[in-house]
Amino acid sequence: MRILLGVGGGIAAYKSAELARALMEAGHTVQVIMTAAAQEFVRPLTFAALTNQKVITGMFSGPVDGDILSSAIEHIRVSQENDLLVVAPATADLLAKFAHGLADDFLSTVYLAFTGPVFLAPAMNNNMWSHPATQSNLEMLRLRGHHIIGPDSGPLACGTVGAGRMTEPEAIAAFVDARCDMRRDLDKETVLITAGPTQEPLDPVRYITNRSSGKMGYALAAAAAARGARVILVSGPVALPEPAGVELIPVRTANEMFRAVMDHLEPATIIVKSAAVADFHVADIPRQKLKKTAARFSIEFDPTVDILAEVGRRKGNRLLVGFAAETENLVEYARRKLETKNCDLVVGNLVGGQATGTGFEADDNEVVLVSRDGGITHLPFAPKRELADRIFDHILLLRPALHQAG
Ligand SMILES: Cc1cc2nc3c(=O)[nH]c(=O)nc-3n(C[C@H](O)[C@H](O)[C@H](O)COP(=O)(O)O)c2cc1C
Repeated sequence: MRILLGVGGGIAAYKSAELARALMEAGHTVQVIMTAAAQEFVRPLTFAALTNQKVITGMFSGPVDGDILSSAIEHIRVSQENDLLVVAPATADLLAKFAHGLADDFLSTVYLAFTGPVFLAPAMNNNMWSHPATQSNLEMLRLRGHHIIGPDSGPLACGTVGAGRMTEPEAIAAFVDARCDMRRDLDKETVLITAGPTQEPLDPVRYITNRSSGKMGYALAAAAAARGARVILVSGPVALPEPAGVELIPVRTANEMFRAVMDHLEPATIIVKSAAVADFHVADIPRQKLKKTAARFSIEFDPTVDILAEVGRRKGNRLLVGFAAETENLVEYARRKLETKNCDLVVGNLVGGQATGTGFEADDNEVVLVSRDGGITHLPFAPKRELADRIFDHILLLRPALHQAG
């Protein structure tokens, strides 16, 4: 692979020399881009000597190949000629620039022009890391499908202890290397994903819903898009930015979600139903707002349409993946869902109760995969974006058997 290694201006910049070497040892070609601040910490000569390539040190510093006529479009050429972009250390400043699309130096301009997978290894003081600005920038980048590596916790260069240490170069190189060969393996697939909660009206101004944040479904959409799939994302109301490169179909109720799924079933080759669809809706929604009353009153609910079961009936040789969010008996319920809904895979996760910190609203999760072939795979606690890739790895393992059967 041809890897662009962007180096930001932090103390950890010296560790990126080790990273460049580790990536080269894994057989990759490495082109280094240093920000102006990075050059205050490490001399470009160090990277040039390690990579046998001239280091790009600025927007107007001349082309790498010495041809002055090509310098006007150097950032476009560099972004087109490389397969992966790895930024380490990714400073707070670079995360902010990437998140908001600023392009005032070579690295941030290349980032905008680059269409391949992006890996970011943040490193900074722990207060800078936990600042809401940094965290919301990071959330945007994660939802854009980028891989965020670390940071680790431990003693920091500023003398404090906490989260903000750049992950060790060997671990970054191993992470990148492991994902090199799988990046376009969904390019022949159309993946239909449902995400988020539904909202079922109680009257013209009120509704019932659930605690699904949509983060898992959006992570799945980002992962599938990054791996080359056409992605159709049918989403209930969520407070998340739209992932890049997906067709987003916003819906509100279970009925709307059902119609949107059925309308887009035809082109789909893989269907992932991660939405937390309401099981009940109000039978007769009052036309006027319900008035406050001192007396107890009841509302009648009807079951909502069972989208998963209906897709299971019509799926043909498409792969169908269901989600089971349970508070108990996870594997048993997941297996039952697999059988009754004609799924190929059910992703089970514990929500609520003792599983605080996992499930609906968290950024991380742990899940159990129950597959049609009887296999049970436990995916340990990890960021949802990371789990999304592991789930698609698993889906791809099921595919050949299914195609033969179909
Ligand atoms: C000694 C020193 C250490 C720094 N370490 C970091 C760091 O680890 N992470 C970070 O985000 N910023 C760090 N900074 C601040 C950045 O260098 C500064 O925000 C700079 O504008 C980043 O530029 P760049 O993102 O273009 O590389 C440090 C600054 C100094 C002077």
